Amino acid sequence: MSQTNRRFLLAKRPVGAVRRDDFSYETVPAEQPGEGQVLVRNLYLSLDPAMRGWMNEGKSYIPPVALGQVMRALGVGEVVASNHPDFKPGDHVSGALGVQDYFTGEPQGLHKIDPNLAPLPRYLSALGMTGMTAYFALLEVGQPKAGDTVVISGAAGAVGSIVGQIAKVKGCRVVGIAGGAEKCQYLKDELGFDGVIDYKAEDVLAGLKRECPKGVDVYFDNVGGEILDAVLTRINFKARIVICGAISQYNNKEAVKGPANYLALLVNRARMEGFVVMDHTKEYGKAAQEIAGWLASGQVKSKEDVVEGLETFPETLLKLFNGENFGKLVLKV
Ligand SMILES: NC(=O)c1ccc[n+]([C@@H]2O[C@H](COP(=O)([O-])OP(=O)(O)OC[C@H]3O[C@@H](n4cnc5c(N)ncnc54)[C@H](OP(=O)(O)O)[C@@H]3O)[C@@H](O)[C@H]2O)c1
Repeated sequence: MSQTNRRFLLAKRPVGAVRRDDFSYETVPAEQPGEGQVLVRNLYLSLDPAMRGWMNEGKSYIPPVALGQVMRALGVGEVVASNHPDFKPGDHVSGALGVQDYFTGEPQGLHKIDPNLAPLPRYLSALGMTGMTAYFALLEVGQPKAGDTVVISGAAGAVGSIVGQIAKVKGCRVVGIAGGAEKCQYLKDELGFDGVIDYKAEDVLAGLKRECPKGVDVYFDNVGGEILDAVLTRINFKARIVICGAISQYNNKEAVKGPANYLALLVNRARMEGFVVMDHTKEYGKAAQEIAGWLASGQVKSKEDVVEGLETFPETLLKLFNGENFGKLVLKV
């Protein structure tokens, strides 16, 4: 029996924000698995700001998606046919499954997940790539110590919300920068952040002066741009700035705007360090176990924002850039 596969192929390199016509959307029979291959029915796809970067030509930490190729996406799904000894129909897996109904290919890079231990979308959030990013980027690059003031931008998002909660576990004063009263309220009331700055409603520098009277020891940067520049003016001696992302810059048609206030690093003998989660794939198991423990004890909460319908992919992806997602953005296929 051949399954029908709806899929989004990258048709052209977007200029600025993605548009539906940057993709071709087609319906084809799913490819049947060859020797050593598996056929996976995709159930949930992870929509990530990084996808915008993968559509650009040029050197990065991972090759761009080629024109005419299925758009790359992480996801979770169920094996429906297998010619590989390690996988059988009914297994649930996580990996780079693509923006489509069915993945056919070698299972290297797929790993098994247990749907009885956590809801499937959680394997794309706290227990998935964004949780791993929060864990390793904060602990290894940010190196928070009890009593430090940790400031996080994109704080109500998938990565930021977990970073803040881990920093609380480590005994830090945690200040989140996010857009809108509802998100800021959530950070304080639900996640226990000590302070919040609504960058859409107030001056970030004034907010930093109010919420960080002792300065900033760790800045976890998800957004770059003007917010990064504002935080640089408040950093402490030997501060650590984690360059996790710069979503305010991803849709730029001109060059990325670098920080004007970078000499604050010199004055404070501070450092900024880039981070790529893929460097830690071998250690994911250990981190997932520790995060699962915090989820079970209630010290960390995970929120997923699930949108239904593969066909909505381009518009749903845009939510990340408009701040319309609240929690980890997941597309239910
Ligand atoms: N380096 C790595 O290995 C790695 C891995 C995963 C993610 N990342 C990066 O981590 C960051 C967060 O990713 P995520 O998956 O957790 O996404 P997310 O925070 O769940 O969603 C993106 C959020 O960014 C905020 N935003 C959008 N445009 C903005 C702007 N111009 N200025 C300020 N905030 C803006 C919006 O929140 P508001 O409503 O608050 O504006 C939006 O909800 C991204 O930069 C991503 O590229 C890096």
